[in-house]
Amino acid sequence: VRLKPLVILDKQYPTDEITNVTPAILAKIPMRLHNQANHPLSILKMIIQGHYSDFIHHSSLSPLVTPFKNFDELSFPTDHPGRSVTDSYYINKNLMLRTHTSAHEVEVFGKKEDKWLLTADVYRRDEIDGSHYPVFHQMEGASLFDATAEGMKEVEADNARLESILKQSNIVIDDIPHVSSTNPVQSSHDSVHAELVAKNLKLSLNSLILRLFGSGRSTPLRVRWIEAYFPFTSPSFEVEVFFGGKWLEILGSGVVLQSTLDKAGVQGKIGWAFGLGLERIAMILFSIPDIRLFWSQDERFLSQFNCGIITTFKPYSKFPACFKDISFWTAQDATPLHDNDFCDVVRDVAGDLVEDVKLVKKTAIVPSSSEVTNTRAD
Ligand code: PHE
Repeated sequence: VRLKPLVILDKQYPTDEITNVTPAILAKIPMRLHNQANHPLSILKMIIQGHYSDFIHHSSLSPLVTPFKNFDELSFPTDHPGRSVTDSYYINKNLMLRTHTSAHEVEVFGKKEDKWLLTADVYRRDEIDGSHYPVFHQMEGASLFDATAEGMKEVEADNARLESILKQSNIVIDDIPHVSSTNPVQSSHDSVHAELVAKNLKLSLNSLILRLFGSGRSTPLRVRWIEAYFPFTSPSFEVEVFFGGKWLEILGSGVVLQSTLDKAGVQGKIGWAFGLGLERIAMILFSIPDIRLFWSQDERFLSQFNCGIITTFKPYSKFPACFKDISFWTAQDATPLHDNDFCDVVRDVAGDLVEDVKLVKKTAIVPSSSEVTNTRAD
């Protein structure tokens, strides 16, 4: 059987026996929600960008990457489950939809950029429910320092600055050691350097979390650090925030594997990276109850958000707005009905379901009748 090629972002790609990307997924690729003005994901992206104001920002890299770039370049083992066709979307054997923004680490470090952010759509095959979606958005951030006494002085100064901000705020941080036997320093690293960099990573992210979740609270913000494992960082950490009575995991992070920097041709540096899920955070900040709402093209969703501000989402009907024209009239010989009398009849019958009642015209033939149109019901 000859398989048909696929057209993605105006280019044609061959398919093969492992192709598993579906039309519903392909339709999401051009959307780039994180770049749509006034979309909650782009508002959140800009708030984080504002926090890391001296970082270079990338946000239009293609989601099509080789499995080599998504996995091998980042030291994923050959039998890692994420590589399987049941977990990831493949265009063909040599091309897939990135599963995380870390896929661009070697590429961006290769541009010799020390401090950068990268926002992108990422794709993972997943179950169907209100908090999972096969396309979501991540923001990757990274910061490199000279692996010298001078470079470490810079880290220490930044650590002191961040510590003083955090000390003055209403945040309770449940920390773990920067390194341990199960979360080790890399063999090529000076352990003092690695600890200072891990500390900088934690302080920097704690202050971002404070910026995102800290305002207008009556109780202290609770954050906890958890030992983690990623093939491309060591030591590695996850962060959870206590919100709505639950601990929510919002990001993965760690000290960048030296082999990643070697592949990018970066020498004499040490640094950290993080990757955070934008939907998770936006759902909390904007009180958006279902991850599928981010894809809504409905004005009732989109019109609720405005650049730069966090507002509380107001739920609306699952069903599309539907306009109905209904006319009403009164008998010719009746005493003329006042508009407000008519509105009270409507209110008694339909309550707040009717959004708008307008008098369009009083006809000459039947002066006492009124015609009402555009009653909108959800
Ligand atoms: N890419 C990881 C994920 O998607 C997150 C991560 C980014 C972890 C950078 C460490 C460093 O889960």
